[in-house]
Amino acid sequence: MPLRKAGANWVEGDRFFDREVELEALAERVRDGTHTLLTAQRRMGKTSLVRELLRRLKEEGSVDTVFVDLEDAATPVDAILELTVQSRSVQGAWRRLKSSFANVLPRVELSTRADTSPVPNIRVKLGTGIDGGNWRQRGDRLFEALAENERPVVLAIDELPILVNLLLKGDDNRITPQRRQAADEFLSWLRKNGQAHRGRVSMILSGSVRLGPILLQADLSALANIYSPFDLKPWDEDTAVACLGSLAESYELDLPLAVRQDMCRRLRCQSPHHVQLFFDHLREALRQAGRREATREDVERVYTGAMLGAGREMVLKHYESRLKMVLGREGCRIAKEMLTGAAVNGGFLPDDVIDRYRRSVPDWGRISHPVEADPAPLEDVLHVLEHDGYLERQGGGYRFVSGLLEDWWRARHDLRRTPSWPGRTGCQSETLRWS
Ligand SMILES: Nc1ncnc2c1ncn2[C@@H]1O[C@H](COP(=O)(O)OP(=O)(O)OP(=O)(O)O)[C@@H](O)[C@H]1O
Ligand SMILES: [Mg+2]
Repeated sequence: MPLRKAGANWVEGDRFFDREVELEALAERVRDGTHTLLTAQRRMGKTSLVRELLRRLKEEGSVDTVFVDLEDAATPVDAILELTVQSRSVQGAWRRLKSSFANVLPRVELSTRADTSPVPNIRVKLGTGIDGGNWRQRGDRLFEALAENERPVVLAIDELPILVNLLLKGDDNRITPQRRQAADEFLSWLRKNGQAHRGRVSMILSGSVRLGPILLQADLSALANIYSPFDLKPWDEDTAVACLGSLAESYELDLPLAVRQDMCRRLRCQSPHHVQLFFDHLREALRQAGRREATREDVERVYTGAMLGAGREMVLKHYESRLKMVLGREGCRIAKEMLTGAAVNGGFLPDDVIDRYRRSVPDWGRISHPVEADPAPLEDVLHVLEHDGYLERQGGGYRFVSGLLEDWWRARHDLRRTPSWPGRTGCQSETLRWS
């Protein structure tokens, strides 16, 4: 069946392409009772993969499924209530919960019906009987109910790292002992339940920022040791070319093989999101031109125009907000300088230049968030940039992974006519200290 193009959000069913190997691998983990930490670069299709997995598993009928999004959760209480609300799809568990949560569930049901509330945090907090004193017991009871369900349950928790990051750093991005303890308590509670109900409840954790670097910043990595990592890779070129072919068929467009290959080579890293974005822009350009067949000239025009143009800033802002979330304001600023440094140097950031940068920043230790530990901020920044898929190690330095992101970054800072680097002058848009 030809592929329908994606909207702005995650995809499943007839909008979901490929990932058969990953779906099978995750299904096997579920059968084995393995808990998974799904990681990938931004917009690689993590949420879509989990949604599609749950959809298929549910269709097969061997397990029940729960999907919880914690993007708007600010406390463990929010998280437990959201978990409770979403667990209503598991009939067996819901029946059991009803008897033990008699005073709570009518309100949960009420708040579920009021799904349209513009402020989800308020929706889940309203007088539910779950509070700072009892969230652990309520949460334990929820896990027990899920574990006692007739069928095993797959519990997918998306955006868990956002909640952990908030617990750890609050709104001012500072780790305090109290905040560290709060994050510790929540993750310990989750780990304890994961261990206690292994085989009955399989967890899949995912998020648009990585959990690993966040836990590392607070020396809490051990709390994630029950989750087996699963790294979702970009599509290879053949898959991306096939995806473009399927989209073209669906919209009755003619995208010759050479055109599709050209699109993929420009992207360099075949993130499904970027493949879809490129198709969208090309389709719109053809529509405006009143044509059905695309040429390589169209690809060139669309790439340098629409792809690097108007929508770019919105996407970059979103990337930036996630970087700021993990690294803080100062760390984010330095991350942007690293990316700019790479962009002005043909996409490559050499180690000796990073060293020069390190020496040129006298107050280096101040982007710290860890309280007690002596932070290694530049290492922190590079670690996050590498693990979030911005840069990758390559012979004595770091290189942009994605051609599109590199071009976006260059275009954003108007660096197209930049002279050779390092030692260049006249970069106004970032406070570079590369001398
Ligand atoms: N398997 C797929 N088939 C087709 N398109 C996909 C697929 N996976 C992802 N996409 C495209 O990528 C976009 C982003 O997908 P999704 O939201 O699942 O990514 P994500 O990794 O969860 O993103 P984030 O890092 O923001 O959480 C979708 O809107 C869709 O355009
Ligand atoms: Mg997602």
